Amino acid sequence: NFTPNAFVDEMVAELKEKLGNDKVVLGLSGGVDSTVAAVLLNKAIGQNLYCIFVNNGLLRKNEFQNVLDQYKGMGLNVKGVDAGDRFLGELAGISDPETKRKTIGRVFIEVFDDESHLLEDVKWLAQGTIYPDVIESVSVKGPSATIKSHHNVGGLPDYMKLKIVEPLRMLFKDEVRRVGATLGIDPELLGRHPFPGPGLSIRILGDITPEKVQILQDVDSVFIEGLKSWGLYDKVWQAGAILLPVNSVGVMGDERTYEKVVALRAVESTDGMTADWVHLPYEFLMKVSNDIINKVKGVNRVVYDISSKPPATIEWE
Ligand code: XMP
Repeated sequence: NFTPNAFVDEMVAELKEKLGNDKVVLGLSGGVDSTVAAVLLNKAIGQNLYCIFVNNGLLRKNEFQNVLDQYKGMGLNVKGVDAGDRFLGELAGISDPETKRKTIGRVFIEVFDDESHLLEDVKWLAQGTIYPDVIESVSVKGPSATIKSHHNVGGLPDYMKLKIVEPLRMLFKDEVRRVGATLGIDPELLGRHPFPGPGLSIRILGDITPEKVQILQDVDSVFIEGLKSWGLYDKVWQAGAILLPVNSVGVMGDERTYEKVVALRAVESTDGMTADWVHLPYEFLMKVSNDIINKVKGVNRVVYDISSKPPATIEWE
């Protein structure tokens, strides 16, 4: 039976022993796993842990600054690197989702590598890998390799010559959350919905432009804030908005408009492998749809995704 307190005590002792006075670098994503790994390592080795939080320009609205402030408030030794323009520049003109993922993975490694070279004498790379990632990274080497390439595991190049430390490698997600709670991490952070590494890029169908990212960030923000204020956020496993590559006709005053369509998606799931769409209240959908169309310029139609996985996936890509 898993006890988070005992895990923390044992892991902190093990990390102290293993890492001694070595310097360790870790990439924070804003998600639960990397945050819990960082706080655990910080407890073991303090300021010898150097955290890097990269803005890939595809995070949720205001997320980079908000999460960076939160990390600093937690006493983590963290550097925020705003590389949004670089990522969006490299992604320009790319429509294929797998090419988007590969591009983001490559640029992330370049940025992370540049940053870690600014630190002297780093010996270790820490990662927030959890048990399901370990399993999945084994299976993606099989026949399904072309389905999806996660860059979370083993994705960093050999030339970094760092030893790997993964304190959460044997834990399931709910255990990670319990460890995080024991470590005193803000419950709001621990309760965050999963968010894909390639971020909003796989929720913008077709090519990515800074204008599309901004529209989607605004739509997503109205949806997520709405879920929170209606008390629905914690009842949903994952939610987000998708910007479709079609325009549709609408009316505004005496004019006809020809503007973007967005889809909203909210699912219940335990592990993301299967998922059911959530029966969100009609009153909520009505309010959020009105808010999106009134507040976000360039969108004149909102649809709700009522497909389950399988056969539909959670992301639209
Ligand atoms: P799908 O779309 O395959 O998504 O039903 C299942 C879960 O995986 C997340 N996802 C990703 N996470 N890198 C990630 O780190 C990715 O490339 C990626 N693609 C999908 C998705 O958000 C959902 O939680």
